[in-house]
Amino acid sequence: MTSESRPSAGQEWNAEGYARHAGFVPELGAAVLELLAPRLGEAILDLGCGDGVLTARIREAGARVTGLEPDPDMAARARARGIRVLEQDAHDPFGSGLCDAVFSNAALHWMRDPPRVLRNIHAALKPGGRLVAEQGGFGNVAAVVTALTASLEAAGHPVPPSPWDFPTPTAQRARLEAAGFRVETIALIQRPTPLPTGLKGWLATFGAPFMPDLDTASRQSVVADTERRLAHLRDETGTWYADYVRLRFRAFAA
Ligand code: BEZ
Repeated sequence: MTSESRPSAGQEWNAEGYARHAGFVPELGAAVLELLAPRLGEAILDLGCGDGVLTARIREAGARVTGLEPDPDMAARARARGIRVLEQDAHDPFGSGLCDAVFSNAALHWMRDPPRVLRNIHAALKPGGRLVAEQGGFGNVAAVVTALTASLEAAGHPVPPSPWDFPTPTAQRARLEAAGFRVETIALIQRPTPLPTGLKGWLATFGAPFMPDLDTASRQSVVADTERRLAHLRDETGTWYADYVRLRFRAFAA
C-alpha cells in the first residue's frame, strides 16, 4: 500500500489495554536495545515511546533520553515514569542536529508517510548520529490479517485498507538512503509471538482499524470467526501465537 492510501487513524490508544494485551511489545525489545547500545550522557530520542517502558531502560544506561509520543494517555504514562516527553506527531519536525541517536520500537509501522518521518529523524540527528529501530516487517501478522479479512468478507462487512507499513529490507533501505542515511545493518526476523491475552486480546488492541463501524455483536462474531480460522495458531497448552515478522536496522546519518 502507498503512504497516500494508508489511513491516518483508526487506531485508538488505551494505555491500560495496551499494557494488558500488548505489554510483550516492549518486553521483547531487548535485542533492539542491545543494537542501540546507549552510552552515558548521549542525547537519545525514543520515537513512539508509548508508555515509556523501554525509554526508562535507555535512561538506566545513563543516556539523556526524551520520548516522542502523540497519544496523550500514553505520554502521561511515560511522564509518570519521570520521562520527558514531546507530545507530537513524528510527521512534524522535532528538532535539528541535537540527537546522538534516535531509537524506535514498534512505532514506525504506524506512520502514514514513512519517508517524511525518516527525513525528520535525519534532521534531528547530529552528523554521524544513528537511527536504531525495530518495526513490523514484510509479512508481519499476515495470517492474522488474512483470516480477519476473510471473516469480515464472509459476514458482508467492508474491509478497510491496512493501517500498517510492513516494508521489505530492500524497500526500507532505499527509503533510508533517500533520507540521507548509510545503512549498516537491516534484516527481517521471523518471531512467532505468544499472545498473553489470546487472539481476542490482540484483536481488541490492534484489530480496531479493520472494524471501525461494527457494533459490539458484529465485532464479537467477526472475532469468533477469525479465531476459528486460525485455530492452528494455538498450541497444545491453549496459547495463541501471532506470526510476527520484525524488521530491525541500524543506520547512520551521512
Ligand atoms: C506491533 O506493535 O508490533 C504491531 C502492531 C500492529 C500490528 C502488528 C504488530
